[in-house]
Amino acid sequence: MIPAVMPTYARADLSFTSGSGSWLTEARGARYLDLAAGIAVNVLGHAHPALIGALTAQAGKVWHLSNLYQIPEQQALAERLVELTFADTCFFTNSGTEACELAVKMARKYWYEKGAARDRIIAFEGSFHGRSSAGIAAAGAEKLVKGFGPLLPGFTHLPFGDLEAVAAEITADDIAAVIVEPIQGEGGIRPMADADLKALRELCDAAGVLLILDEVQCGVGRTGRLFAHEWAGIVPDIMMVAKGIGGGFPLGAVLASETAASGMVAGTHGSTYGGNPLACAVGLAVLDIVAAPEFLAEVNRKAGLLRQRLEGLVASYPDIFEEVRGTGLMLGLKCKVPSPDVVKAGYGAEVLTVPAADDVVRLLPALNIEDSDIAEAAARLDAAAASMTAKG
Ligand SMILES: Cc1ncc(COP(=O)(O)O)c(C=O)c1O
Repeated sequence: MIPAVMPTYARADLSFTSGSGSWLTEARGARYLDLAAGIAVNVLGHAHPALIGALTAQAGKVWHLSNLYQIPEQQALAERLVELTFADTCFFTNSGTEACELAVKMARKYWYEKGAARDRIIAFEGSFHGRSSAGIAAAGAEKLVKGFGPLLPGFTHLPFGDLEAVAAEITADDIAAVIVEPIQGEGGIRPMADADLKALRELCDAAGVLLILDEVQCGVGRTGRLFAHEWAGIVPDIMMVAKGIGGGFPLGAVLASETAASGMVAGTHGSTYGGNPLACAVGLAVLDIVAAPEFLAEVNRKAGLLRQRLEGLVASYPDIFEEVRGTGLMLGLKCKVPSPDVVKAGYGAEVLTVPAADDVVRLLPALNIEDSDIAEAAARLDAAAASMTAKG
């Protein structure tokens, strides 16, 4: 019999009932150290007082308003994002995949309004942009698209980081945009080198093509800058944001330059819940903390600590681990064994990590993880690896 919850996930037998900081309490009482953070979502850990305060204060005022009206919290969050980033304008969504839908629509509409027949988008192998029709078509991997055709047409997939392939394709007169994750998350914590991101921006500029960055997983402080592309010193035309921006409350956004968004006039896009007052109140509280330079400096310091511990782990267990990858607190342990086995061994040691493609175990902890929890994380990951070695 099909379970009441549709079985689209292979779930672990873990049921968490409460959380605090980087810790989650399981129904049977054990405390797990959370290095997954809801897959890069809980940037301030669990039950952060500022987020509880923002959410409950807003809950006492108004929960929901249609986008037919002005929404003060949405206005304030949009202004804050415009102030903090390259963007001139924002559209709020509830998720990353909805942000992908709009990014694709916006790029195509831009060219339509210019009277140009440009609708093809260059995307990269190994990418992940969500589970909507645009998201899976943009990613293109067989495991995402098989059985769901006919797919949204107009995506060309090139090897990740292959700038020569991009240069050869981007001059075609039907290319509208390039979409890329500065660091592939689901694809196995695969960063695009800063020099390559710069080169990609230059190729887009030379061809007059829009650059869409998917910062759903790598954005909002995760890499030690507010957005990952800042490390490369470039700006996109359109950027997808979600996950961390809501700190655990469903919230996403598409940020865009005035030019890129020029086709998105009244009536061209909408969402019932997008920009909901509860979500935006929480988003503002997240940004108040995460965008502060002192907070980001701390993320970089903590990232250094965790990375050092992980390098030690790789040295201690050369049969299990190959290398540490990633930037900031978006780290991956490339494994020599199937990464789901390592994640499972972690459950045994009461530490939560996330598997990714390419046999990588992702570590995406809360950005405010305590130093003592980083030490504890290393001890628990060590215990997990030791249990695998013992089993042979
Ligand atoms: C880079 C990237 N884009 C888009 C998405 C989709 O986001 P959501 O699951 O909120 O729809 C994800 C989710 O993992 C992601 O990592």
